[in-house]
Amino acid sequence: MKKRIAVLTGAGVSAESGLGTYRDNGGLWDNYDPMVVASAEGWARDPGLVLDFYNMQRAKLRDVRPNEAHRLIASLEKDYTVDVITQNVDNLHERAGSTHVVHLHGEATKIRPENTCNDADGYSEKYVVDVGYEAVRLGDKAPNGAQYRPHIVFFGEAVPKIERAADLVGQADIVLIVGTSLQVYPAAGLYRYARMEAPVYLIDPADVKLYDSRVHHIRKVATEGMKEFVGMLK
Ligand code: APR
Repeated sequence: MKKRIAVLTGAGVSAESGLGTYRDNGGLWDNYDPMVVASAEGWARDPGLVLDFYNMQRAKLRDVRPNEAHRLIASLEKDYTVDVITQNVDNLHERAGSTHVVHLHGEATKIRPENTCNDADGYSEKYVVDVGYEAVRLGDKAPNGAQYRPHIVFFGEAVPKIERAADLVGQADIVLIVGTSLQVYPAAGLYRYARMEAPVYLIDPADVKLYDSRVHHIRKVATEGMKEFVGMLK
């Protein structure tokens, strides 16, 4: 029976692939107001702006590749049962070969009718469509007649996968956090579900404020920190 590793990732794991983070200098939220382009209110106020923002995010994915950190995370599956629980909406974990990826905040390559996947239908993903890297416009309607929207958890919306993610962290023998500022809840609180006997590692070059003495902080970028982490497992 393989030991289980829960890998909690944020934008930092994709930084070395050339995708921007959100809160570092020059990050996405320095250039765009998340309340305008990534919130439920923003969608209600000006859906065209939100569609354009995610069209840009989606198009960027066409030109970037997984980096060594994504690949090393995927390679853990040789010796461990690995659950990747990511806040990222990019598809780089899957493209690097990870086979169990939970996207807490949705996926940039996917869209859905705007009147589905909500409290009323139990967050059903039955009508979710993968559009790859193509643009989606106002007026692009689903078969049920509703406007298509990004399959993204906007600010102000529920995070339906958080319970599943917490269960997976609670089952892990090792918890690894890579490249997140741990500022957005509920994702930021997930590592606290780790069992007392499970070691928790953090890979991040910055001095992320973790008031938890048991976390072993590898202060390196993801590609270097993953090499160190893999070395520690041997
Ligand atoms: N390697 C590892 N970590 C890095 C690297 C790198 N090369 N470069 C930056 N980082 C770290 C930063 O130090 C920071 O701690 O990645 C983290 C990025 O933090 P954020 O930009 O806040 O991204 P994230 O934590 O993923 O944001 C969480 O906020 O806006 C929402 O939905 C959005 O999923 C996102 C969530």
